Amino acid sequence: MTRLLLLNGPNLNLLGTREPGIYGAETLDAIERRATQVAREQGFELVCFQSNAEHELIARIQQAGAGNFGVLIFNPGAFTHTSIALRDAILAVGVTMIEVHLSNPQAREEFRRKSYFSDIAMGVISGFGALGYELAVRAACGHLAAASGARRP
Ligand code: DQA
Repeated sequence: MTRLLLLNGPNLNLLGTREPGIYGAETLDAIERRATQVAREQGFELVCFQSNAEHELIARIQQAGAGNFGVLIFNPGAFTHTSIALRDAILAVGVTMIEVHLSNPQAREEFRRKSYFSDIAMGVISGFGALGYELAVRAACGHLAAASGARRP
């Protein structure tokens, strides 16, 4: 079965207590549980992983290339603005990616306006808080359903 991979980068393990005025009050665990449920309702399995370490995120992306993951939903956190290595990993394995942010980085500090992912993403969802993850899962499931429909004779 085609699976979805939800990756979260540095400091997103602190959701719930981290700058709630910007990132909301919901924990990552609650976000992941809802995202998993939404995926299941659409007939897809969602695998979730968070790390503060760039190399661990790279390893997961590389595994995704071999692991029958149809779409990567990715909030790279601050790596959004710095990581050519994560960008290269996504390009190397050729996985379809949806970029997610809780806040709207375009409306924040100048240094958050640069993303190393937006131009290689299928789409970007930002500024809707935790809802953005649910929207991304729905978009990913719709994409996979359309792709499998197109493959049927
Ligand atoms: C973030 C935005 C980034 O600029 C920031 O470094 C984060 C979270 C977001 O979800 O809004 O860690 O990706």
